[in-house]
Amino acid sequence: MSVRISVPRESTAGERRVALVPEVVRALVKAGASVSVETGAGVPAGFPDDGYREAGATIEANRATLFGSAHAVLKVQPPTPDEVGPMGPGTVVVALMNASRNLDRVAKMRDARVTAFALELLPRITRAQSMDVLSSQATVAGYRATLIGAGLCPKFLPMLTTAAGTIRPAKVLVLGAGVAGLMAIATARRLGALVEGYDVRRAAGEQVRSLGAKFLELAINAEGAGGYARELTDAEKQQEAAMVAKAVAEADIVITTAAIPGRKAPILVREEMVAAMRPGAVIVDLAAETGGNCVLTRPGEEVVVHGVTISGPLNVPSQLPFHASQMFAKNLQSFLTLLLTKEGTLVTDYSDEILAASLLTADGTVRHRPTADLIAAGGA
Ligand SMILES: NC(=O)c1ccc[n+]([C@@H]2O[C@H](COP(=O)([O-])OP(=O)(O)OC[C@H]3O[C@@H](n4cnc5c(N)ncnc54)[C@H](O)[C@@H]3O)[C@@H](O)[C@H]2O)c1
Repeated sequence: MSVRISVPRESTAGERRVALVPEVVRALVKAGASVSVETGAGVPAGFPDDGYREAGATIEANRATLFGSAHAVLKVQPPTPDEVGPMGPGTVVVALMNASRNLDRVAKMRDARVTAFALELLPRITRAQSMDVLSSQATVAGYRATLIGAGLCPKFLPMLTTAAGTIRPAKVLVLGAGVAGLMAIATARRLGALVEGYDVRRAAGEQVRSLGAKFLELAINAEGAGGYARELTDAEKQQEAAMVAKAVAEADIVITTAAIPGRKAPILVREEMVAAMRPGAVIVDLAAETGGNCVLTRPGEEVVVHGVTISGPLNVPSQLPFHASQMFAKNLQSFLTLLLTKEGTLVTDYSDEILAASLLTADGTVRHRPTADLIAAGGA
């Protein structure tokens, strides 16, 4: 029997992305799957129902049928208890689960004996690159961050020579040059700004320079496990603060993207640094979701402190829902190649390294140890 895949309309407030786009539905249907898409699921992202219909999907208005009849449910956000309710035991759910922040939802999936895969847990190995939702969505977030900064900035970004005088280019500083930071740098360069980038991983230097930006060098290399950053020592933090303070004071737009997996975002911009910025300067804190890289950031808000506008946007990829969904769907299509057999049924052996790492709940237990520990410690 061919696999039945369901794609609901996202129910989280403000979420405009959709898990599958028509192009990917077409490929899955061609491969033998039957796909049901909830009425209007793609509309907020710019994908009307007709496109899904033409791609071979069934449009389903009844949510209980959608969730209850599926072998696999594909989502962007973790399923709510209402969504898990109709699912039968063994239903596979794939989404960005943000497990440590959604322990109650994880517990609900465990109790419903749902098989949940968390896309944020995919190992960052070469074979998983085409499935890497964190990277694709960070690309979107980095691009949008520069546009948010440019929109709030009272200055032009490029240098202009006009009859009304010469305009000097704006200075953009990007703290954290991972996937999002590099995209923010590239976008600011395209807009003609003078750009500086900084990261604790020295390997980022070459990438920053290759985009035509200056890399701020510190005598620290804090590359930790798996190519991610490690936490800095206190002495290293002081060196970093002095260098960052100088660069922040000279910037028109500061974009912060620094993150350490599984931890609160590191504080890079303190209040005295904000006070020393130029009037009208802007900070866009992409780390707002995990507490922020600036002490004054208010997640989800835009505040003006010491004459500086500080934006702490949440769920930034949802602000560019068409391409964010397209990339997310392509990532899912690639992930599904591991979950589907040649006969078009779901695999039951999850020993593949990628499946094993991203398996969150199965057979009534939480399989991801750190999440299980948090739940056992009373988190849900
Ligand atoms: N499949 C793969 O092989 C794969 C996939 C994605 C990313 N990566 C690599 O992993 C690395 C980071 O990825 P990410 O963007 O998802 O990371 P991330 O979102 O966890 O962090 C963003 C950036 O913040 C930096 N950072 C942390 N603390 C900092 C501090 N105190 N000051 C300045 N910067 C700080 C990190 O080094 C990182 O570059 C990159 O090198 C990327 O190329 C590999």
